[in-house]
Amino acid sequence: MQASPLAVLTAADVRTSGVLNPDVAVDVMRRTLAAKRAGVAVDSPLSTLTLGEPGHRFVAHPASLEDIAGVKWIGANPENLRHGQPRASASVLLSDRQDGRSRAVVEATSISAARTAAVGALAVEVLASTAAPFSVGVVGAGVSSLAFVDTVIALYPDLVRTVTVFDLAEEAGARLVETLRERGVAATVAGSVEEAVTAHEVVVLGTSDAVTPYVTPAMLEGVRLVVAISLNDLTETAVATSGRWVTTDRQLLAYDLSSTARAVRSGAVSPDRIELLEDLMVDPASGDRPEGERIVFDLWGLGMFDIALAAAAWRRQERDHGQR
Ligand SMILES: NC(=O)c1ccc[n+]([C@@H]2O[C@H](COP(=O)([O-])OP(=O)(O)OC[C@H]3O[C@@H](n4cnc5c(N)ncnc54)[C@H](O)[C@@H]3O)[C@@H](O)[C@H]2O)c1
Repeated sequence: MQASPLAVLTAADVRTSGVLNPDVAVDVMRRTLAAKRAGVAVDSPLSTLTLGEPGHRFVAHPASLEDIAGVKWIGANPENLRHGQPRASASVLLSDRQDGRSRAVVEATSISAARTAAVGALAVEVLASTAAPFSVGVVGAGVSSLAFVDTVIALYPDLVRTVTVFDLAEEAGARLVETLRERGVAATVAGSVEEAVTAHEVVVLGTSDAVTPYVTPAMLEGVRLVVAISLNDLTETAVATSGRWVTTDRQLLAYDLSSTARAVRSGAVSPDRIELLEDLMVDPASGDRPEGERIVFDLWGLGMFDIALAAAAWRRQERDHGQR
């Protein structure tokens, strides 16, 4: 067997490849979810190594799609934020699906944020009405929330009317608001969770899986779609009083730090009612929705999302530099 070199893509290579552009990332996620629906993209259950404090963990997400099998490896420690470091870092190992050879290692921290944002933006496209501008509430002003807002704006430039941001760390909220204003978005800092949630049609939760749930049904008055990137913010009643529950994978239901999984386990929500985004992409929910119905979208981060985007970056690099 002729040895082929193991390609290494740095963060700069990934950026240069163009896969972080919202339209590219959304297109790759759309195709990945369709491949999942067709049964040709598959994830195996993730494996978590927990190390002490809440949120300090390493997670391996194996998946296979097209001619690739791979694993996303992500290390996170919320403590990093106190030292001005990113909370999480990720890389992806890509192997040939047929013969098992390792083909590329891809620095994937920015891929993780881009794929999360792209799947969240697809949820907005499929689950919210994109006919009229809406206001966005953000709780947790980190990397994921910024990427989400950026992607929705890139996809639908005239759709986001205002963005209201709450973060426990005031400077993080102020930083996100400033960044959004620089992009021409009408953004304001909220003084409380309620202010960032109540009456905003679309709410994004991007805090920390370690939190005690704090978003109550009363806070969710007027909210049409909750995009839960962090999965443990809603109280069980906030989940139970919603009208529809959508996710990207049923692995969510086995996850301890998931509000929806808890509501299912307690019997408040029947597991049969949990819908998959890939099915609704074919049969959208955004048409005739009952007045006042609230959808909770739990964004379960599948390995195939990162692997698909990392593989796209690798293929683009090889196409441009002929390294395959
Ligand atoms: N679903 C997915 O696929 C996926 C992908 C990436 C990240 N995540 C999760 O999303 C969350 C956010 O990720 P990130 O990379 O943007 O994190 P980040 O650390 O960059 O930002 C999180 C922000 O939330 C704030 N925060 C924490 N608790 C809060 C609370 N109770 N109220 C208000 N603000 C609060 C922090 O101060 C911080 O600014 C994490 O829990 C992460 O595990 C999920």
